[in-house]
Amino acid sequence: MKPISLVVLSSVALLSKICHACIDKATYYAIDSDIEKIASSITSQNELVHFYGGIVRLAAHDFMDHDRNSGTPYGSDGCIEWNHEVNKGLQTIWCNSCPLTKLYKKTYSYISKADFWVISANAVIRQLSKNQSFDLANTFLWGRKDAASCQGAGDRIPTGTGCREVEDTLLDAMGLQWRDAVALLGAHTIGKGHEAFSGHDGYWMPTVADSLVFDKKYYEELILRTWRSRNIGTKEEDFVASTEETHEHPQMMLKADVCLLYNTDRKYPCCSKTNRFLHGVNECDWEEVLSNKKCPSYAKNDSRMEAVRAVLEYLGGISPNDNQGPFYKAYATAWFKATTNGHDNLKSIRRTCW
Ligand code: HEM
Ligand SMILES: *[C@@H]1O[C@H](CO)[C@@H](O)[C@H](O)[C@H]1NC(C)=O
Ligand SMILES: *[C@@H]1O[C@H](CO)[C@@H](O)[C@H](O)[C@H]1NC(C)=O
Repeated sequence: MKPISLVVLSSVALLSKICHACIDKATYYAIDSDIEKIASSITSQNELVHFYGGIVRLAAHDFMDHDRNSGTPYGSDGCIEWNHEVNKGLQTIWCNSCPLTKLYKKTYSYISKADFWVISANAVIRQLSKNQSFDLANTFLWGRKDAASCQGAGDRIPTGTGCREVEDTLLDAMGLQWRDAVALLGAHTIGKGHEAFSGHDGYWMPTVADSLVFDKKYYEELILRTWRSRNIGTKEEDFVASTEETHEHPQMMLKADVCLLYNTDRKYPCCSKTNRFLHGVNECDWEEVLSNKKCPSYAKNDSRMEAVRAVLEYLGGISPNDNQGPFYKAYATAWFKATTNGHDNLKSIRRTCW
C-alpha cells in the first residue's frame, strides 16, 4: 500500500491538472515524445512529411485567423472552419481516427486544443530541426481557451495569391512585421502541397528528405533556383522549379513565397532567372513562360524591400553555410507573436504544477 502522504500528493497533482489544466515541463515533453512515437510508426516518407507538415499547418491555420481590427479577433483558439475550402486536408491530421486526435482525447484532453496544437507544432519543429536543437519550450506560454465557433475564420486564411494577401493577413490583421512574416513562411521548408487539397502539387524542397528538415533551406531554394510560372490562368497559379522534369516529385513555390523576393503582384506569369541554360535551353522556356518575362525586383523605396532584406538575413551569410542562427532567432520571435496574439494572462511552463 502507498503511504498516505504519497496518495495525497498524487491526488493533489491530479486535481491541479484537472482543475487548473496546468501544463508543466513534464507534460510538455511527454506530448513531444508521444508525437515522436507516432512519427516513428509511419513507414512511408511521404506520409511522414505530411504528418509532420500537417501539424504545423494546423497550428498556423488556428492562429492566422487573428484580426486585431475585428470585433471577433479569434487567433489560436482551437477553432477551425473545417469545411472551408482553405482548410482542406487538415482533417487528415485532426479527425476521430487520426493518431494526433486520439492521443489528445486519451491523455491530454484536460488542456485546451489550442495549447495542444501549439505544443505539437513546437514538438515537430524541435524534432526536425538541425541537431534537434531548436526548442521553442522556453518561449511557450499556455492557457489558451478554445472557442466553440469561429464563423468567418476561414475567409481570413491566405490562399497564396501573392504579397497583397500576406500584407492583409500577417501584417495588417495579425500585426506582425515583414521580418516575422518571412520567418513564418520559412516553415514551408517542411511538408508539401497536395493536388487534392489546395491544388498546389509539390514540395518546397528539392527532395523528400529535405522536407523533413526544419532549417533555412527555404530561403536558399527561393534565391538560388530558377522559378517559372505554373498553372497559369487557373486559381492555383504558382511556380515550379526549372529542374522539375528530373524529379519524381515536383518542387514548387506559391506566389506568396516567390513574392518575398520578386514582385509577382505586378507581373505574372514570370520567371525568376532569365539568364540560365540547361542543355542549351533557357531554363525559363517552357509552356507560355518566355525568357523575356523576368519577375520584377522591388523598387528601392518599396516597403516590401523589408521582406527581401529578411530573406537575405536568414540565409546566414555567404552560401553554403550551416548558420541557422538568424532564421531560428527570427522564427522564435515571430512564432511567439503569432501563437499568443489576442491572448492575455498566458503563463510559462513551470518545472512542476504542484
Ligand atoms: C501567406 C501565408 C500562407 C499561405 C498562403 C500558405 C499556403 C499554403 C498552402 C497552399 C499549402 C498546401 C496545402 C496542401 O495542399 O496540403 C500550405 C502547406 C503548409 N503550410 Fe502554409 N501558408 C501560409 C502560411 C503558413 C505559416 C505561417 C505556416 C507555419 C508557420 C505554414 C506552414 C505550412 C506547412 C508546414 C505546410 C505543409 C502541410 C502538409 O505537409 O500537409 N504556412 N501552405
Ligand atoms: C549541429 O552540429 C554540428 C556538429 O556538432 C555543428 O557543426 C552545427 O553547427 C550544429 N548546427 C546547429 C544548428 O546547431
Ligand atoms: C518610389 O520611387 C518611384 C520613382 O523612382 C516613384 O514613382 C514611386 O511613387 C515611389 N514609391 C513610393 C512608395 O514611395
